[in-house]
Amino acid sequence: MTDSDLVDRSLRSPVLRRSFLKSFPTAVRGESVYVCDSDGTRYLDFSGSAAVNFIGHGVAEISTAMAEQAKQLEFAHTSQFTTPVAEEYAQELLDFAGENFRDGAVYFTSGGSESIETALKLARQYQVEIGQAKRYQTLSRVQSYHGSTLGALAVSGNKRRREIYLPMVREFEHVGIPYCYRCNHDCSDGCRNCGQEYAAELERAIDAASGGVAAFLLEPVSGATLGAVVPPPGYLRRIAEVCGERGVLLIADEVMTGMGRTGRNFAVDHWGIAPDILVTAKGLSSGYAPLGAVMVTKKIVDAIAEGSGAFLHGFTYNAHPVSLAGGRAVLRYLQKGKLVQAADSEREGSAASQVRRALEGLRDLDMVGDVRGIGLLWGVELVADKKTKKPFQPPFHFAGKVGQAAAKRGLLVYPMQGSVDGDSGDHLLIAPPAVITKEQIEWSVTELSRAIEEAARQS
Ligand SMILES: Cc1ncc(COP(=O)(O)O)c(C=O)c1O
Repeated sequence: MTDSDLVDRSLRSPVLRRSFLKSFPTAVRGESVYVCDSDGTRYLDFSGSAAVNFIGHGVAEISTAMAEQAKQLEFAHTSQFTTPVAEEYAQELLDFAGENFRDGAVYFTSGGSESIETALKLARQYQVEIGQAKRYQTLSRVQSYHGSTLGALAVSGNKRRREIYLPMVREFEHVGIPYCYRCNHDCSDGCRNCGQEYAAELERAIDAASGGVAAFLLEPVSGATLGAVVPPPGYLRRIAEVCGERGVLLIADEVMTGMGRTGRNFAVDHWGIAPDILVTAKGLSSGYAPLGAVMVTKKIVDAIAEGSGAFLHGFTYNAHPVSLAGGRAVLRYLQKGKLVQAADSEREGSAASQVRRALEGLRDLDMVGDVRGIGLLWGVELVADKKTKKPFQPPFHFAGKVGQAAAKRGLLVYPMQGSVDGDSGDHLLIAPPAVITKEQIEWSVTELSRAIEEAARQS
């Protein structure tokens, strides 16, 4: 028998899927918090797919706006034209992002990775424009994820997603990331000390690069890799100071956390920090169209406009009119429906506060070591031993097993592995649409709890 005889032919498809090791249901319809497959099974989307959907599935006014744009003008190349939808929507986004981005500008892309690539190049070009051509490095953090293109992988710290591609990328320093459930520093003062220790690590790394650092990139709240880890008090503020004092641009990767997901328009708003560049995607279009955005402050726009006069970058599909019409309709929909408020976990009675409370109840399970997060972005860390925080053995794929058991019950969560050291450590990411109801939350958490117990019985 050859290796190819061992491959289950039924798992083959003309689509090069993400995995040959499992079958995929065929999604055919979306409605509010549900995704339905061709067998008639309805799944409650408790993870917003991969923290993408924020406004709910199947909202007719978004598809109508896209169809109208497609009828009017489906495409125009950005080297030849701008479009009304691009101009209007960019201004609406800058207003949504607040004072820090007044008189700034937005570069539209087709998703998160393209936006990160754009941000890295913008930071470099900015430094060249202001006479700092020595600055080309982007520092970032271990246990982070910024995208799957090679540039974005180079600055990511997610071991599994990078490992085999590492010989192909040029890497710069990755500094430590606060992860207080398993912190390297003393967290006994409410994590004030550890935040400063991590910021000091960045300070040392910038200084060690002898003026070579152009930018520092971080997810304000850790996304998939660590599972919704909220930064300790004082950490982000100090990071912003360290960057500002050293002429290093601060890039906030809000691909996952932006557009209301954490209960503020952008996660940085929780801590009052003002990044030079802010990258967002996912919730920007809520999945209705491939869309990402890179927002830049006036300082950066001025440097290019008054310097060489041209940003040396471009994609055929950047600022695609149909995607922008979808994104603009999503922004209006979430504002009209007060969905950012619904995603505020500190607001009494909000969907997010109900999610927070319901998830906290999972701590009673032996396998749940930590529940953390903010807004509508939560992580549930699963452990083999709660007292010692010992993780499950990686080959057991505990989070994946929970994900499968949940899906069988009609519940979608986002399982991840590697939070402890890149290999071991299991967690689930929970990021439902902001339109989820109390009953749906209670049902989801009950089913999730059963799925965790079911997976544990297999261990
Ligand atoms: C924080 C963060 N940055 C960047 C990306 C890459 O975005 P995309 O998958 O849209 O390319 C992701 C995707 O999960 C992400 O979570």
